[in-house]
Amino acid sequence: MSHWQELESKYFMKTVERIPLTLVRGQGARVWDDDGQEYLDFVAGWAVNSLGHCPPVVIEAVGEQVRTLIQTSNQFYTVPQIQLAEILVQNSCLDKVFFCNSGAEANEGAVKLARRYGKNYLDGAYEVITAMSSFHGRTLSMVAATGQPKFQQPYIPLPVGFTNVEYNNIEAIKEATTDQTCAIMLEPVQGEGGVNLPNDGYLAAVSTWCDQKGILLILDEIQTGVGRTGTLFGYEQYGIEPDIMTLAKGLASGIPIGAILAKDKVSVFTPGDHGSTFGGNPVACAAGYATLKYVIDNDVAGNVKRVGQYFVSRLEELKQKFQFITDVRGRGLLIAVEFSSEIANSMVKACLDRGLLINRVKPNALRFIPPLNITNSEVDEALSILDGALSSID
Ligand SMILES: Cc1ncc(COP(=O)(O)O)c(C=O)c1O
Repeated sequence: MSHWQELESKYFMKTVERIPLTLVRGQGARVWDDDGQEYLDFVAGWAVNSLGHCPPVVIEAVGEQVRTLIQTSNQFYTVPQIQLAEILVQNSCLDKVFFCNSGAEANEGAVKLARRYGKNYLDGAYEVITAMSSFHGRTLSMVAATGQPKFQQPYIPLPVGFTNVEYNNIEAIKEATTDQTCAIMLEPVQGEGGVNLPNDGYLAAVSTWCDQKGILLILDEIQTGVGRTGTLFGYEQYGIEPDIMTLAKGLASGIPIGAILAKDKVSVFTPGDHGSTFGGNPVACAAGYATLKYVIDNDVAGNVKRVGQYFVSRLEELKQKFQFITDVRGRGLLIAVEFSSEIANSMVKACLDRGLLINRVKPNALRFIPPLNITNSEVDEALSILDGALSSID
C-alpha cells in the first residue's frame, strides 16, 4: 500500500472500494499515477471529463475567472452564470435555469419544483413516480427516488412521496399514477443501473401519459446530458420534451456543478423558495460555459455518435470471439458489455494491469464512459487491452 493509501485508510470513512491507484495528473484521455505509470481512462471521473482531462479551453476559462472573481452571493448578478444559462436555454427545449452543485442536489431541486407546481396547479399533488434500477443520487430523498433496494435499505424510513415502478413498463406507471402524483422522473438511459436502454416507444408513451394527466415529466440527464448519448441532450432522440431536466456530471468538465432547467409554465419558484450558496458559482459556470460552447461549436455530440457506433461494432466483434459476453448495449459513449458470470471485478483489475481504466457497473457488467472527444484509435487501443484481459480468463 502506498503512503497516500495508508493515510487514506487512517482518515477516511469507507464509502467506496477504491482501486489501488493514486492518480496525480491527467491530459486528454490519459492519466498518470504517482509512480509515473500511464493509463487510458475510459471512466472519465464517472462520465464527467467530457473533453478529457485538463482541456485547454476549460483551463483558460477557469484560470481567467479565478483571477477575476471567484464567488459572490446569489443576491448579485454575475456574468458567467448568465452566459451559461443563456447557452443552455438557447440549445434546449427548456426556458429557465437554476444552478446548484451536484446531480443529487439538482434532482432534489427538480422534485421541489414539481411539488411547488403541484401545490399551485394540481391540488397539492406531491408524489413522484420513478423507475426500478434508476439512480438519482445519494441524498435521503434521492435514495427514496432511486429504485434500487440496496441503496434504500440502510436508511429506512425514507422520505415519503416516491413510488418506484418497473422500468420500461408504461402500464406500471399508469397503475401507480394517483391524484397525488405531480411528476414522473426518469433517466433517458439508465446509467448507474447498468446502461439500460428504453424500449422503443416507452419514453414517448410516458410523455403522452404525463400530458394526458397534466403531470410533469422530469428527465434526469445528469449522466446522459451534454453530448454523452450522441445528441446534446438524450431526450432529442426520443421525440419528447421534458418539463424539467437536470444536468451535472459532464457540464463543467469536472468543476462541481448541477443545473435544473424547466419550461416557463413550470418555473414556479418565487424568491425564497429555493437557493444555494455556491450554486451558479462564477468559476463553475465559466467552466460550464467553456465546456458547452466547445461541445456545440465542435459538434462533439456528432463525434460521440460516430465513435460510439465504431466502439459498439468492435465490441460486437469481441462478443463473437468470447462466448461469455452475452450482451453489448449502449447509446453514444455510454456503453456496457455484460458477461454470463460475475467477472467484472476481475476484468477491471486485468485491464488496470494492462493500462486501461474501466468501470464495473454490475457484478457481471462493465461500463465504458470515456471522454466525449476520444478517437477511433483510442477505442482500438482500449479494445486491444480489453481483448488481452478477456483472453487471460478464457
Ligand atoms: C442519472 C444520475 N442522476 C444523479 C446522479 C447523482 O449525481 P451526483 O453524484 O453528482 O450527486 C448520478 C450520479 O451518478 C446519475 O448518474
